[in-house]
Amino acid sequence: MSIQQKQLNIGLFGFGVVGSGLYKVLQQTPSLNAQINKVCIKHPEKKREAPGDLFTTNAELLLQDENINVIVELIDDAEAAYHIVTTALKAGKAVVSANKKLIAEHLPELLALQEKHNTPFLYEAACCASIPVVRNLEEYYDNDLLAGVTGIVNGSTNYILTRIAEDKLDFQQALLQAQIEGFAESDPTLDIEGIDAVNKLSILLAHAYGTIEHPSAIIHSGITQLQEHDAIFAKEKGYKIKLVAQARKQPNGDIAAFVLPQFVDQGCQLYGVGNEYNGVVIESGFADKQFFYGKGAGSFPTASAVLSDVSALRYDYRYEYKKLRTQKVKLTTDFYLRVYVSFEGLFHVPHERFERIEEWSSNDKRCSVVGIIHFSQLLDKGWWKKKNASLILLPDAFVDRLPEKVTKKEDEAVFA
Ligand code: HSE
Repeated sequence: MSIQQKQLNIGLFGFGVVGSGLYKVLQQTPSLNAQINKVCIKHPEKKREAPGDLFTTNAELLLQDENINVIVELIDDAEAAYHIVTTALKAGKAVVSANKKLIAEHLPELLALQEKHNTPFLYEAACCASIPVVRNLEEYYDNDLLAGVTGIVNGSTNYILTRIAEDKLDFQQALLQAQIEGFAESDPTLDIEGIDAVNKLSILLAHAYGTIEHPSAIIHSGITQLQEHDAIFAKEKGYKIKLVAQARKQPNGDIAAFVLPQFVDQGCQLYGVGNEYNGVVIESGFADKQFFYGKGAGSFPTASAVLSDVSALRYDYRYEYKKLRTQKVKLTTDFYLRVYVSFEGLFHVPHERFERIEEWSSNDKRCSVVGIIHFSQLLDKGWWKKKNASLILLPDAFVDRLPEKVTKKEDEAVFA
C-alpha cells in the first residue's frame, strides 16, 4: 500500500519551538489526515501543553513502531538527529527534518539512503523556514537558466542586525532577544558565525545547481566581526548591513558561492528584509529577478514548512535531485569581488592582496579600504578573519571586468 492511501502516523522527535508549533498546527488542520502517535523528548520533567501519554524518552519506541510511517525530526542535536534520520530511512519510513546542520554535513549519505531504501526525505523547513525555496529550486528552475540565488537565510542574525541598527541595542542584548523569541539555535554561535547560513547555502546549492559541497569547504563569515566603524560607513552611504548567502553562475558555468556580510542599497530587494524575516532573490535567464520573502525563523513559520512536507507525503512527493543527476556543476574561486575591509590601525592593511584600491579612510583607531580582490585571497582567512578586522561586500559585489591594476608605485604612495 503506498503512503498516499494511508493515514500519516507521525513519530515526532523534539517538542521545542518547532515541534510544539507543529503539534498545534496539526490540530488546526484535520483535513490532512495526519496524527502524531508519539513524541520523543529529552527532558520528561518539563511541562508541556499536550497529553502526558504522548511522550516518551525512548527513541526506539518510535523508530521500531510499524504503525508509524512518518518520522518528523525536529531536535537541535545534529548527531542524535543523524541516528534518528538514518535509522528511519533504513526502516523505510518517510522522514521530514528541519536540521540544516545534519543535512548539509551528510547530504551524500542521505541521498544514497533515500535511493537505496526508496524512502522520501523532505526538509523544506531547513532553509528559510516559511519560504518554500527548496521545492521551488527543485521543481521550477532549470540550472541552465539559473543565474543566481542570493538571500538572507538566517533569521537570528538579520534580527540582531535590525535591532542594533534601528533600536540601538547592543550586540549581546539583541542576541539575547533573538534567543528569547526562539529564533536562535541552541548554540547561537552557529547563527552569529554564519555556520547556519552556510549549512543552508550548501543545501540550496544541491537543489539549485546539483552541486554537493560540504559547508566547511564554502567560504563564510558571520556578524561577530562587524564594527561600529562599519555601521558609520553604511549610514554615510545609505546602506544596510546584511548577512547574505549567494550562489552565482560564472561565465564558464562554474558557481561562485559564499556567505559574507554585505552592504545592501535601497535598490536591492533584500534592503527591506528586517528582523527575523528572510528573503531570497532568484535570477534567471528570462524571468529576470524573482523575490521570495517570509519569516525565516520561529515556531509557526517553521512548523508551516514542516506541515507542507508532511502534506506532500500524502501524494508521495520526494525530491528527485534532477540537477544532481544531469547538470552537476562545480564551485570556483576564480572571480573578483568588490569588498570593504576595515582594520584596527593603518599598519595592518594588506594592500598587496587587492587588485585595486578604490577608496580608503581612517581615523585615529581604524582604517577602511574599498577595493577589488580575487576571491582566492579569501581562502587564506588569516588576514580578514583576524581579531578586529571586518570584511563586507559592496552592493553589486561581483566585478565582471577587472579594471587596470593600480601600479605598485601608486599603491605604495597611498599607504606611505
Ligand atoms: N536559527 C535559525 C535562524 C532558525 O535564525 O535562521 C531557522 O533556521
